[in-house]
Amino acid sequence: MDANSMKVTRNDGEWIWINGKTMPLADARIGVEDRGFLFADGVYEAMRLYRGRPFGVKEHLERLERSAAAIDLALPCCRDTMAQEIQRLADRSELTDGLVYLQITRGCSVRNHLFPDPSTVPPTLLFYTRPLAPLPAPGEGAGISLLSVPDERWKRCQIKTIALLPNVLAKNKAAAAGADEAVFVEDGHVNECSTSNLFAVVGKTLVTHPLTNKVLPGITRAIVLEIAASVGVGVQERPMREDEAKSADEVFITSSTRELVWVESWDGQRVGKGRCGDVTRRLHQAYVERVREEVLPHVAVA
Ligand SMILES: Cc1ncc(COP(=O)(O)O)c(C=O)c1O
Repeated sequence: MDANSMKVTRNDGEWIWINGKTMPLADARIGVEDRGFLFADGVYEAMRLYRGRPFGVKEHLERLERSAAAIDLALPCCRDTMAQEIQRLADRSELTDGLVYLQITRGCSVRNHLFPDPSTVPPTLLFYTRPLAPLPAPGEGAGISLLSVPDERWKRCQIKTIALLPNVLAKNKAAAAGADEAVFVEDGHVNECSTSNLFAVVGKTLVTHPLTNKVLPGITRAIVLEIAASVGVGVQERPMREDEAKSADEVFITSSTRELVWVESWDGQRVGKGRCGDVTRRLHQAYVERVREEVLPHVAVA
């Protein structure tokens, strides 16, 4: 096999758009003094591709704009242009199921805590694709286990910043204890998880943390709250005590890449009946239908 054909097979759906250039992900480089690398000075998004289309791209780019504004970072192009370029990259990747990871940092300049002048130092904007396995149908996948950890993050968790070290440490603590996901607990209340939002079904009510500085405003979370009425459950956005959440009828987590995943155990104790609950399954089904409506077959961008 010659070098060129190796290059074609090597990237396997992994393509990147970086500051206006498209290439196989493995060929992309950023400077050592990129502020994302030195200071975690940036924000990001992660979307799921279904049938080759990024689901919820409008909502993700709106949140990106809010996150960027919250750290005084201007986006280098408008959301429509970004959405078009993301779709173009998704088409290039030829993926049906996959991830689109997008990140913007304050660019590459001489290391200094002070922001560089944006008129001379442009941000680093990139997004890349990667294959993901299709998800199990509602009610059919395995449940997950949770581990409670103290919430030691900063006070602006509504911003989707790339400064994720506390989340990384929490997730690794969970993994070391044999659990799949870490739940951030503060003053006896549950906030969210290291990579997802948390929901509990208490009787006929769906409960999740309100949108404050303690949780990320999840795109999946918002859709689940919207569709709750269609499956006949009320919604309460309120802080929940850890013991109340642990003894709920059903608990599940949400994220763009995993949709809804039911929780089987928490700190080693069984949650609910130890199987995917009826409300979780119906909400998941309604979510999948919402996805299907949005990602009906599309024509590739030329
Ligand atoms: C801390 C945290 N909370 C919640 C979520 C879920 O957000 P979304 O549904 O927008 O993927 C994520 C996803 O990455 C996350 O990292």
